[in-house]
Amino acid sequence: MLRFALGLNAGDQQQGSAGIRPLIAGNWKMNGISASLANVREIGMKTEPIADAVDVIVFPPATLLESAAAVGLPYRIAIGGQDCSSETDGAFTGELSAEMLSDAGATFALLGHSERRRRHCETDENIRQKAIRAIDANLKAVICVGESLDEKAAGDTLTVLSKQILHAVPRTVNSSDLVIAYEPVWAIGTGRRPEDQEISEAHAHIRGQMEAVWGEGGRQIPILYGGSVDSKNAKTILRLPNVNGLLIGAASLDAAHFSAICSDAAGLASANLSI
Ligand code: 13P
Repeated sequence: MLRFALGLNAGDQQQGSAGIRPLIAGNWKMNGISASLANVREIGMKTEPIADAVDVIVFPPATLLESAAAVGLPYRIAIGGQDCSSETDGAFTGELSAEMLSDAGATFALLGHSERRRRHCETDENIRQKAIRAIDANLKAVICVGESLDEKAAGDTLTVLSKQILHAVPRTVNSSDLVIAYEPVWAIGTGRRPEDQEISEAHAHIRGQMEAVWGEGGRQIPILYGGSVDSKNAKTILRLPNVNGLLIGAASLDAAHFSAICSDAAGLASANLSI
């Protein structure tokens, strides 16, 4: 599979994430029934020509994991679970183990999304345990971090990110099994997002934390931005240093919009390749 010599942003060569393939992920949240598999197929048909240039992941609801994985496979669309249990098996009604996700065809697990942190009282420690389970089951762990509006207003964004990373990201795993998603809680589903400079600062901070633990490996961990991304603002965000991809909610439910964002990412990566 083609690997890019450069990252999305030429500036990343100096800033620590050169060579990372853009990763565009759609989090469907609690949306999607079997008819929605047509969306996976449409995304697949639209992104097939750029499959060498961008990694595409869909996180459907758990009920669609197996069928979405089958539909996505020929198009190289990866499928992920939106959560996994911190336990391996046993009397945990309603929970899904990482092994079950993997068995259903998932290759990623999305962990610590703010909606789960809030509604299910997930702590950083729970999330770290889930990440270990996920990686043990051969899934890549996409770990979400991000500040609330109050934390942002107090000027605590970077401190919050440091604390979440310290406690939620396991340090004993290989860096190649990790993806970090920076999702400011207040930007999710609101149509608001941080200033470009604020996104750059947050991503540079996360990159520094990854490098501090994994050294060179930390430079290769994809750092995604998520929160009110759409087909209008995606390109601008993707150009920011240390932004290696996007985690998209609402706009990922529309196959045309989502595919257009994937094409933007591929276009930017190819442009950097030819510099
Ligand atoms: P929106 O793109 O709808 O703001 O959601 C972002 C998100 O939560 C992705 O995980």
